[in-house]
Amino acid sequence: MRGLFVTGTDTGVGKTVLSAALIIRYPGARYWKPIQTGADDDTAEVLRLSESSRDAAYFHGVRLPDPVSPHLAAQRANIRIDLGTHIAAPKQSDAAWIVEGAGGALVPVNESDLIVHLMERLGLPVVIASRTTLGTINHTLLTIEALRARRLSVAGVVMIGDPDPDNRRAIEHYGSVPVLGEMPRFEAFTAAALRKWAAGSLDPENRLQEFLQ
Ligand SMILES: Nc1ncnc2c1ncn2[C@@H]1O[C@H](COP(=O)(O)OP(=O)(O)OP(=O)(O)O)[C@@H](O)[C@H]1O
Ligand SMILES: [Mg+2]
Repeated sequence: MRGLFVTGTDTGVGKTVLSAALIIRYPGARYWKPIQTGADDDTAEVLRLSESSRDAAYFHGVRLPDPVSPHLAAQRANIRIDLGTHIAAPKQSDAAWIVEGAGGALVPVNESDLIVHLMERLGLPVVIASRTTLGTINHTLLTIEALRARRLSVAGVVMIGDPDPDNRRAIEHYGSVPVLGEMPRFEAFTAAALRKWAAGSLDPENRLQEFLQ
């Protein structure tokens, strides 16, 4: 499989919005959400925000109704998520994929596996969505350490919220990682606003091109 895995320093940090922005920035890249819990449908949201047709997504995966961690949502649905049997990667070898995790890197999916083990199986470089606000240095560096401890490659960080140049510099310095963009909090959060930002301000140095084209 070719592409990037999008994780976050937390749930609700902006992984889905970033995934849509990456598809806008690198047209032709396709989206996959292997584990979805709760009523939100990240796949539909990515297609809506990136103004893509259904062909741009892969719909296979584990879908659980409770809006909690996958291990718990699965327990409540009386199933056990098995990374080997339930989560089959798409076969189309020509496509580049944006794969969105659930929550952050160390979120459990069953009694022994975490999202980071799914990342290891897929073997994709990882992009981290992080906040811009106080606390983000610690959360982002912890995420980077957890990924590198498993020999996963960190392609970069995208910060979401009102830009904070000091936090950006600290993440780049202490994390030895590029920040590929700072997505402001949009007053009116529309597909058009996201498109404008993604086209002009996401990954201006084309660092992700090798993974997504
Ligand atoms: N730059 C932004 N401006 C305004 N609203 C935003 C922005 N980025 C994200 N949001 C909003 O914040 C919420 C959380 O974003 P998003 O769904 O992308 O997070 P997530 O990390 O994918 O969450 P989950 O862990 O549930 O998958 C959404 O309602 C989204 O529309
Ligand atoms: Mg999401």
